Amino acid sequence: MAHAKAGASLPVPNVQALAQTWHGSGEPVPFRYVRTEEIVAGEVVAGCAIPVVDLSRLLDPRSSEEELANLGSACQHWGFFQLINHGVPDEVIQDTKKDMVEFFKLPVEAKKVHAQVPGGIEGYGQAFVFSETQKLDWADMIYLMISPKESRDLRFWPTRPPSFRDSIERYSAETAKVTACLLRFMAKDLGVEPERLLEEFRGLPQSMRTTYYPPCRLAADVLGLSPHTDATGLTLLLHVNDVQGLQIRRDGKWLAVDPLDGALVVSIGDILEILSNGRYRSIEHRAIVHPDKERISAAMFHQTCPNTTVGPLQELVERDSGGARYRSMDYMDFMKGFFAAKLDGRRSHMDALRIY
Ligand code: OGA
Ligand code: NI
Repeated sequence: MAHAKAGASLPVPNVQALAQTWHGSGEPVPFRYVRTEEIVAGEVVAGCAIPVVDLSRLLDPRSSEEELANLGSACQHWGFFQLINHGVPDEVIQDTKKDMVEFFKLPVEAKKVHAQVPGGIEGYGQAFVFSETQKLDWADMIYLMISPKESRDLRFWPTRPPSFRDSIERYSAETAKVTACLLRFMAKDLGVEPERLLEEFRGLPQSMRTTYYPPCRLAADVLGLSPHTDATGLTLLLHVNDVQGLQIRRDGKWLAVDPLDGALVVSIGDILEILSNGRYRSIEHRAIVHPDKERISAAMFHQTCPNTTVGPLQELVERDSGGARYRSMDYMDFMKGFFAAKLDGRRSHMDALRIY
């Protein structure tokens, strides 16, 4: 996918290996990972009930209208929801989870066969490291371009466990179906033709980031994933093991998300916020780590087509009294701006695009 070159990271140590050596050392957390300000600054609310959307109710004509209102409210007021009865076969989910767990169990050297290469963001490594002095996340990840098929670079696709590629293939096909279905309902809620919104996502481009958060005995000193918004249309997040860590920012507080068993956590990305002319909101989120359990999550990102313009849908601009609330720009420029803004922190890229 075109954005593969836009956000290359500087090389930093493997966190899984670092965590293992450090764990029994009795030493404080290595300086570059210590995050006192963020952790202290934010009040955390435990066990938060983000909205639950039931896809089977959306599809059932008897409950569709009511559930559509629920979906619309979740997208407008929360930017995050849990999706239940999503129809992804349990077997597909279980195979995907098992293979991801197996992959991260491999010795670091075996995983590094798929390491990122200079100038790229795909593969095994870290993301969003742009300076020698910035604070680092307590996590390793593997990032893969998935759809369209031509965007895949199989050098980065694990061959161990042997079923990994097949599991991802099946999981990505299922999540693409769910996403297309959600986009149709979102279009309906926004009052635009479903085909019009889907056209922006033609071919349903997908990429996936699977993140491994090693345990950290001084968990309150580190962050697994720095606060960010996703530069996507929609993100579907799978909790690969049952360790929680996702937090979303709401009314100045961090709310800990505790997903229901089997649910997918869906979030609105920056691009869908823009397409919806600000009706839907992309919400800042982060991940914390557990003191003695590893955590694994997999985010399936759904992008718009790289050859489209990122801007509010014309139908909505014409209808909204204030006109366009965001500037339109070329997809690649949008992605470059997203990566460039990372060090300035939250939403600065989106704020720069906003028309007041
Ligand atoms: C991401 C993300 C959250 C998590 O990969 O963009 O927000 O809980 N992940 O790992
Ligand atoms: Ni995210």
